[in-house]
Amino acid sequence: MSENIGKRVFSGIQPSGAIHLGNYGGAIKNWVLLQEQTECFYCIVDYHAMTIPYQPGDLRQRVSLAAVDLLACGVDPEKCRLFVQSDVPEHTELAWILSCVAPMGELNRMTQFKEKSERVESVNVGLFTYPILQTADILLYHADTVPVGEDQLQHLEISREIARRFNHTFQPLFPEPKPLLTAAPRIMSLQEPSNKMSKSVPGSAIMLGDDEDTIRKAIKRAVTGMGEPGEIPPGVANLLTLLELCDRNDTAEEFRAAQRDGTIRYGDLKAVLSEALLESLAPIRERREELLAKPEKVRQILGDSAASVRAVARQVLDQTREATGLRPY
Ligand code: AQP
Repeated sequence: MSENIGKRVFSGIQPSGAIHLGNYGGAIKNWVLLQEQTECFYCIVDYHAMTIPYQPGDLRQRVSLAAVDLLACGVDPEKCRLFVQSDVPEHTELAWILSCVAPMGELNRMTQFKEKSERVESVNVGLFTYPILQTADILLYHADTVPVGEDQLQHLEISREIARRFNHTFQPLFPEPKPLLTAAPRIMSLQEPSNKMSKSVPGSAIMLGDDEDTIRKAIKRAVTGMGEPGEIPPGVANLLTLLELCDRNDTAEEFRAAQRDGTIRYGDLKAVLSEALLESLAPIRERREELLAKPEKVRQILGDSAASVRAVARQVLDQTREATGLRPY
């Protein structure tokens, strides 16, 4: 490994729909913190978004909207590199090389593949090999730290396994990447609190760009449900997590105590949470509106990053080609 490649962070988000509070609380919040501390590569993973049915005419717009949301959340192109996966086609070349050491048996066990393949009529190979491309995304930058939500832990395990296998078969080129979780690594659906909040499940999420009325209604309709005696019902626990995401830890603790004594009023919790969310999301929404009015600026940020990122990717891919016996590029 080249000596000048040090500790690096990589993380990606699919432009498969608007960014929601789960994405924000589980991953993006850490992206914003990490860019202050180390070298970060943040990627809008459009190749990954092709694994589920989509309209080609919508994809570019979704990529731009994802960039707007990320910038509005505080991802700062002066402090990190924010780029689009397909602008750096080296991702797919490394994915092919890694697919030749990736263990089929472990890919077969991936929960996300099982869940997503149930939702589509015809299962494509890309959905199955998704974790290999994800591994390539990370290893292409020699990243050792990957801020993600809890749902991605299984994929990160396989990434480590693929890195180990590559290093053992060829040369010790790649670090084994480790996940980094936030304090809210799994935010649940507002309608079915046993499932995670998800872009593709209608009613499950609050999107960062939702307006005031939509947010109030979504919280009002959120399922609270019944828990085991002495336990906080999962829907209520999720609302408390959202309150903590808005930095209202003390208020969340008061509601937790009220739940334990049986004095909690879910209407009060929902009212407080709605206000907290509106206040926390206001600056994001404001920046979002500003950026939506400047599509040129957003395009330029993505274009500039792609050029600099590609130079790093090329260097790592050259090393990989050499280690695997492929001809120099
Ligand atoms: N509910 C969640 N709670 C915490 N973290 C979450 N993440 C996603 N959902 C939650 C994290 O957000 C990052 C980006 O996710 P992604 O865009 O790669 O895709 P996903 O996991 O497929 O997200 P969605 O929103 O649930 O999309 P669909 O509906 O397409 O399945 C990742 O770090 C992820 O862990």
